[in-house]
Amino acid sequence: MIKQIEQCRIVPVAAVDTLENGLKLCESLSEAGLPVIEITFRTAIAAELIAAASREFPEMAIGAGTVLNSDDLQKAVDGGAQFAVAPGTNPTVLEKALSYEGFEFYPGVCSPSDIELAYSLGAKTLKFFPAEAAGGVKMLKSLCGPYGHLGIKFCPTGGINATNMTDYLAIKDVIAIGGSWMVSKDLFGDWDKLKSITRDAVAIAQMKEAS
Ligand code: 3PG
Repeated sequence: MIKQIEQCRIVPVAAVDTLENGLKLCESLSEAGLPVIEITFRTAIAAELIAAASREFPEMAIGAGTVLNSDDLQKAVDGGAQFAVAPGTNPTVLEKALSYEGFEFYPGVCSPSDIELAYSLGAKTLKFFPAEAAGGVKMLKSLCGPYGHLGIKFCPTGGINATNMTDYLAIKDVIAIGGSWMVSKDLFGDWDKLKSITRDAVAIAQMKEAS
């Protein structure tokens, strides 16, 4: 498991429009004590930003998100990403991702069949997505029942925020939660506010750690 994700237990999911905003976002997250970012392939600059952020913020765990095909996966790896995430389980992408030594890939799942497919292909850490819409904490606890003993871990994402994150973090097989609330594009430019929301999220996760 990537050390920054293990420590902070939060993966900020960002869709960034410009390189400038992306680098400022990385700086702000790092300064706010959350040296992790999932840069989604939902904007044209994703690959370029992954490469630039990997160079400029070596203290951060830089990852790629919304990785839907092998081309984007390759761009992420070439750019220096340490991990990647996808909303679903695409066997072609998953097998290629697992072939890179030291690289982590979290395919998306939201049903027992998804979990069995991802696990059979070698994935051990899965993104439970879309967490809230797919049944939330109750659904995830039910899914942990038959699969927990396999060592499968989850990163629930989708509809998670400062209010409900601790409910997910309390589940034994949850390593981290993903969310976009602290890196919403509405906050770009208001970097102090973004940092403050991020610090709050980090503090909530740490409190959960201590309880
Ligand atoms: C996503 O892929 O959109 C992430 O799961 C983020 O979801 P959120 O915006 O509900 O946090």
